[in-house]
Amino acid sequence: MASPPHGAAPAPRAQRLQDLVRRVEFGLFGPRLEVWREQRKRHAIDRLRRRTLVITPMEAAVRLLHLKRLLPTPLVALDLFGKAGIMKTLEYVPFAESVEFYEVYGPFAAHARRALPADKVTIRVADSIAAVRAGTTLRSDYSFVVMDNPISTFGGGYCENFDLFPAVFDRLAPRSALVFNAALDDWVAALDTDHVEHRRRRRAFFGAPLDAAHAANDLAAVMAGYARAVPADRFEILDLFPVPHPGDMMFLVMALARR
Ligand SMILES: C[S@@+](CC[C@H](N)C(=O)[O-])C[C@H]1O[C@@H](n2cnc3c(N)ncnc32)[C@H](O)[C@@H]1O
Repeated sequence: MASPPHGAAPAPRAQRLQDLVRRVEFGLFGPRLEVWREQRKRHAIDRLRRRTLVITPMEAAVRLLHLKRLLPTPLVALDLFGKAGIMKTLEYVPFAESVEFYEVYGPFAAHARRALPADKVTIRVADSIAAVRAGTTLRSDYSFVVMDNPISTFGGGYCENFDLFPAVFDRLAPRSALVFNAALDDWVAALDTDHVEHRRRRRAFFGAPLDAAHAANDLAAVMAGYARAVPADRFEILDLFPVPHPGDMMFLVMALARR
């Protein structure tokens, strides 16, 4: 089969090496170097956005929702994997009335406090998946939920964004949009992760037996898997569309109406 159509064939060794370098750097410098790199990237992207036709994935997601008249108003955001907020949150915060922002790692959250407007954003240093599942988020009427989750197993038992379904549906306003990371099996195979457990969790979420080949290896299968995760008796899917993203992932954007 040809390479996956996202522009880069899976390159496990290169990716793992890059991962290793990052981990060593992180051990040596903590989050500072990584945040500094993201800030430089942010400046470069912002310069390009002002001077060229560049449009980022988050900007595309918001614009497409707006064009389709599906961008919720007011935009009450729940950002579940915030990091320092530099790459994604900063891009939609101008449209938001409020943002509840989660980051489990304190030093990243400390950078987010400096990067994001304090009058709109409430930063919580906590496990967002646990908060959604326990119903302890500050509100239960979010109209814009961002899940910029790791495409891996993580946090002692979580995998991608699967553990947020179906609990996230108890936290939504009557009209809402979810923007979340999604990946194909081939792309996941390129990442440094617990492959056996990751494959098991993907098979369970996308609804295929463990030995089934190519269970979630095309866009239609991945979209169908997420569509099935929506409680159809409570919510209607108004739209579900992908937005290309660099790296081994895409954004899926799901617009919902409560029945
Ligand atoms: C892909 S990064 C998010 C990038 C971020 N959205 C941005 O715009 O730069 C994933 C982040 O999720 C955090 N994280 C992982 N598990 C978490 C959890 N259970 N609750 C909250 N944050 C978590 C990680 O520490 C990491 O900073």
